[in-house]
Amino acid sequence: MVNERLALLRDYPFRRLRSLLSGLQAPGGKEELIMSIGEPQHPYPDFVKDVLADNSDLWGKYPPTPGTAELRRSIADWLIRRYGLESTKIDPERNILPVAGTREALFSVALMATPQITSNDQPTVLMPDPFYQIYSGAAIMAGAEPVYIPTSEKTGFLPDLANVSNNQLERASLAYICSPSNPQGAAATKEQFIRYIEMARSYNFVLAVDECYSEIYFGNPLPGVLEACTQMNGRYKNVLAFHSLSKRSNVPGLRSGFVAGDSELIKAFSQLRQYTGNASPGPVLAVATALWNDEDHVQINRRLYQEKFKDAENLLGKHPHFYKPDGGFYLWLKVGDGEAITRTLWKEAGIKVMPGKYLSREDGDEPGTPYIRVALVHSRNKTAEGLRRIAALL
Ligand SMILES: Cc1ncc(COP(=O)(O)O)c(C=O)c1O
Repeated sequence: MVNERLALLRDYPFRRLRSLLSGLQAPGGKEELIMSIGEPQHPYPDFVKDVLADNSDLWGKYPPTPGTAELRRSIADWLIRRYGLESTKIDPERNILPVAGTREALFSVALMATPQITSNDQPTVLMPDPFYQIYSGAAIMAGAEPVYIPTSEKTGFLPDLANVSNNQLERASLAYICSPSNPQGAAATKEQFIRYIEMARSYNFVLAVDECYSEIYFGNPLPGVLEACTQMNGRYKNVLAFHSLSKRSNVPGLRSGFVAGDSELIKAFSQLRQYTGNASPGPVLAVATALWNDEDHVQINRRLYQEKFKDAENLLGKHPHFYKPDGGFYLWLKVGDGEAITRTLWKEAGIKVMPGKYLSREDGDEPGTPYIRVALVHSRNKTAEGLRRIAALL
C-alpha cells in the first residue's frame, strides 16, 4: 500500500542517538547541554518581529511559489556583493528561486533531476560520506542509487569525484557537495569547485552545492560555486547553489532559503514546485527580504562563532585530533569509538553529542565511526562550559 522505497530510509540520526542513550542518566546537579543538534541559539535581529507584524495582512493571501520580485532582487544583490558576480549575469527572474529552507529544496532537487529508471540503468546520485541525511533520503525516494563517496583527512574531508567509477558517473543524475561541509567544516576552493563543475558538465548531471553554512567562517570569506562559475564558459550550466537564512541569520524556524544558478534548471525546479506546494507565506518572504539586505547582524553572528572556536582551540587544542574547521559551527573530533564516547559524555558530563557513525552510510565501513560531532551553537559561556567538560573526559 505504501511506496516500498520508504522501507529503505534509515532511522534519522537523532532517533538513533535517543536509542543509544536510552536508559542512561545524565549526572544530577549539572545543566544538561545539547551539543548534538545544529540548531543556532544566537539571537536573530530585532527587526524580524517588526517586519512580520507589518506584513501580517499577507497571512490572508496564498503565497506565490517563486516568492516576490523584491525577495529575488535582494538575493541577487546579496550574491553580487558576497561573491562578486557581475550584476548583468545574475537575473533575479531566471537564476534565483526562493525556497522554504534548503532541507526541502535539497530533497526535491533529486525529484527534479532524476530521470525515469530503465530496466538495467538505474540513475545514481553522488554524495559525500559522512553527509547530511536528506541527500540519501532524496536519492532513494527519487528511485536513484545513492553513491557514497568516502571523505577523510586524506581527501581534505571533501569528496573526490575521481574515486567514482565511470559506470556510476555515466548514470549520475545529481551530485551533492556540501561546502563548508557538515559535519567536518571543510570548504572547497575555487579550483575544487571548477573540477566539480567540469565533471558535472562532462557527465551531464546536476551539481547541487549546499552552501547553507557559507557565512560562518574564520578567515577570508569562503568561495562559493557561483563565484567559480564566473570563470567558466557556459556560466552556471548544470550548477545550483543552495543557501539558507537558518544559520546565517539564526532563524531556523522561518524556513527560508534560496536556490540559484542554471536558468534551465531553475525553470524546471519552479515547475516542479508548483506541484509540491512549498511556497513561503508572504510575511516570511518580507522578513527574508529584509534579512538578505542586512549584513550587520551576520557580522555579529560570525564574530560570536569566531570567539567560540577560539575558546575551543584553547580548551581542546591539545587533543591530538583537534582541528579548526574552515567554516560552519561543528567540531569534528576523532575520539576512537564515537558511540562509546557519546555514551560516556552523556553519563558522566551531561553533554549530548552526535556519534559520527550516524552521519555515515550503514555498511559496516562508515568513515564517521571514530568521530563525534559537537555543535557550538549555544552562547559563548554555555559552549565553553560544554567544551571544558568534554576536554576533561577525552
Ligand atoms: C548540511 C545542511 N544542509 C542543509 C540544512 C538545512 O537547513 P535549512 O533547511 O534550515 O535551510 C542543514 C541543517 O542543519 C544542514 O546541516
